[in-house]
Amino acid sequence: MREFSSPAEQYDKFMGRYTVPLARALADEVQVGRGMRVLDVGCGPGGLTSELAARVGAEAVAAIDPAEQFVAACSERNPGADVRQGVAEELPWEDDTFDAALSCLVIAFMADADAGLREMRRVTRSGGTLGVCMWDIAGGGMTMLRLFWDAMKAVKPDVQGERPRAGAAEGDIAERLERVGVRDVSGGAFEVSVIYEGFEDFWRPFTFGVGPAGQALAALEAPEQEAVRAALRPELPEGTFSLAARSWYATATV
Ligand SMILES: C[S@@+](CC[C@H](N)C(=O)[O-])C[C@H]1O[C@@H](n2cnc3c(N)ncnc32)[C@H](O)[C@@H]1O
Repeated sequence: MREFSSPAEQYDKFMGRYTVPLARALADEVQVGRGMRVLDVGCGPGGLTSELAARVGAEAVAAIDPAEQFVAACSERNPGADVRQGVAEELPWEDDTFDAALSCLVIAFMADADAGLREMRRVTRSGGTLGVCMWDIAGGGMTMLRLFWDAMKAVKPDVQGERPRAGAAEGDIAERLERVGVRDVSGGAFEVSVIYEGFEDFWRPFTFGVGPAGQALAALEAPEQEAVRAALRPELPEGTFSLAARSWYATATV
């Protein structure tokens, strides 16, 4: 089953709530502002696209994602933006089209991450900027996913998890950018946080089957799913709580 086949509203509850502050941090780092023409690669339902549209106007924003239902949601949420269905590895825009190309939480899911970055470089003009971020999976800085995969491993010790994915370890995005021949590569970490109304607000979105975590849970039998839930419950407080999430990012000049 595809990792991102869920409806946009389910993605919003699972991960999109994190995209809002993360998109702001990434757009700040790239210094996206009036007069720029910008691209959002792997836009999902459009969290970063909306942040970009608020800064430069929707007509100056393009976005792309392979998931049909996300393309539809992103278009609907960002009228005037050029939203297309496709993949990072084959961007359907001419060379030098954009002043900046950004990608938020996508590099880990590209079939060929370096090819995706090369395409982002190609469609960005000389002197333009690339900005890419991905969760700190390897270091456990994305609390929600760390708690989940720890609970999964307690129930299914041989489960794969998301650690080996592109961008998930410190410095990996910057190394990849260096490889694709851009200059002034610099990187760091964004720290964001999200508020949950309680345990059910945290747990239910995992049952929607979104992303590798949701898919891994969906692949379990009901009693095993219940065991994952039971392993997670004592890790989280009663009532409202906030979870911190660290992402690695890197920017570069084309
Ligand atoms: C975790 S979501 C991130 C969505 C959005 N950027 C955000 O921050 O909310 C990952 C997205 O990458 C998309 N994706 C998967 N493979 C891709 C590829 N090869 N090129 C571009 N996007 C891809 C998925 O469809 C999904 O929308």
